[in-house]
Amino acid sequence: MEFGLKHNAPENARSACQIITVSQARKLSRSGQRVDKASKGFLTSITRRGDMEGKLGQTLLLPDVSGISAQRVLLVGCGKESDMNERNFTRLISSIVSALSACGARDAEFYPGDIGLKGRDLAWKIRQATLLMNNSEYQFDQLKSGKTSTSKGLRRLNHNLPRSDASKAKQAISEAQAISAGMSIARDLGNLPANICTPTYIARQARLVAKGEKRLRVNVLDEAAMKRLKMGSLLSVSAGSRQPAKLICMEYRGAAAKQQPIALVGKGVTFDTGGISLKPGAAMDEMKFDMCGAASVVGTLKAVTQMQLPINVVGIIPATENMPDGLATKPGDIVTSMSGQTIEILNTDAEGRLILCDALTYAAKFKPRCVIDIATLTGAAIIALGKVPSAVLGNNRSLIDGLIKSGQQIEDKIWELPLWDEYQDQLKSNFADMANIGGRDAGTITAACFLSRFTRDYKWAHLDIAGTAWKSGEDKGATGRPVPLLTQYILNQVK
Ligand code: BES
Ligand code: MN
Ligand code: ZN
Repeated sequence: MEFGLKHNAPENARSACQIITVSQARKLSRSGQRVDKASKGFLTSITRRGDMEGKLGQTLLLPDVSGISAQRVLLVGCGKESDMNERNFTRLISSIVSALSACGARDAEFYPGDIGLKGRDLAWKIRQATLLMNNSEYQFDQLKSGKTSTSKGLRRLNHNLPRSDASKAKQAISEAQAISAGMSIARDLGNLPANICTPTYIARQARLVAKGEKRLRVNVLDEAAMKRLKMGSLLSVSAGSRQPAKLICMEYRGAAAKQQPIALVGKGVTFDTGGISLKPGAAMDEMKFDMCGAASVVGTLKAVTQMQLPINVVGIIPATENMPDGLATKPGDIVTSMSGQTIEILNTDAEGRLILCDALTYAAKFKPRCVIDIATLTGAAIIALGKVPSAVLGNNRSLIDGLIKSGQQIEDKIWELPLWDEYQDQLKSNFADMANIGGRDAGTITAACFLSRFTRDYKWAHLDIAGTAWKSGEDKGATGRPVPLLTQYILNQVK
């Protein structure tokens, strides 16, 4: 979708559709009042009759309103003014999107300044609206043989605002477009089945993102190189797979070479059968999404590259399948990680931490200012927090606080769980330095405890996105989270 700016009076706009908000007191927005006046009170007569009460999400399409230049007016309820918040703003935009897709309008004009939202400025509303509208266009139909639906709906949305706000607005729009482009890549990678989206495929896509981009370099290590680096833990996961593992490094250099980069490490298990500790069959197909952490790293680097941000960011993606096989790792096997610490693998289904620990050790080589890992790591994260926020844990207060704040800014929420020392005891092994599982209690925390043993040398945060990276059921599909959160965090480090 295209986005543009308009500065004309609402009654003079030659758009296919004017989007006018109405609050619950049946009160027309400022631009609504002008349209009302030009149409000799037509809108007021409609709200008086009770055809539009202003309830949040209610819509009413009015064709051929006399006295104005636009072809249609879409009245949209935005609820009580005092109830307007980030979540209701999101709901408002999605009701606009569905009403517009049901009508023939090719372009529409929106008045972000008409919506009062405490603590959020115009740029925020423009960026959020642009992001939501752009994301609503996402479709994954590349594997359906029927004609791909050429979208007939909205092609262009214009934000109408004062000329003095134009430069802020342009910036907000381009940020939203970059984030949306990143989310879309992340969703495609997530949605692709594991017979297509292999470690090799992710490596190829990472290279594609870097194609023609001077600031982004991609380097892919194969299994032989990982062996030389002594990544015994990572390789113990790929041992059971016919697909070769890859360690994909994406380096974006937007600032001086000496500036320490932000490192993003994403779990890229392209299919998680559980290995010899085989998972039950129900919904196992969803384990194709077990590389959504990796996908969010590729997506975030795409967004950063598109914005050409003046900062250094590296993405590190350990990518592998987790399969049962004659050569697969067995429960009880002991491996030596790149850090030198030994691990007793009591459950081969706790494989995410096994690939992340070596990637986290490797990350130190970039001398990062901080490291954020992103992983669909534990079902326990869904038990603890459901599917609303991602879980965050880490060893640095200001990094965690910065991530939490970023999540609030862009409506991609995270919630902290405690990483207290007491939990470390659950990882005791009789035979090695540690076990790879910590029992039933606090599974998300003990997984993070495991990772914390490999991240002592830098500021580190861990995002468990098991509950947020994809949706199940009728809407099954990747969400693109936490690309918005990560990109916002990086933007905040630039500003
Ligand atoms: N990829 C899974 C985690 C997962 C499961 C995410 C279901 C989303 C939905 C991970 O590799 C895994 O299997 N974790 C185990 C850990 C356990 C063996 C300690 C889990 O969560 O059951
Ligand atoms: Mn697993
Ligand atoms: Zn997994």
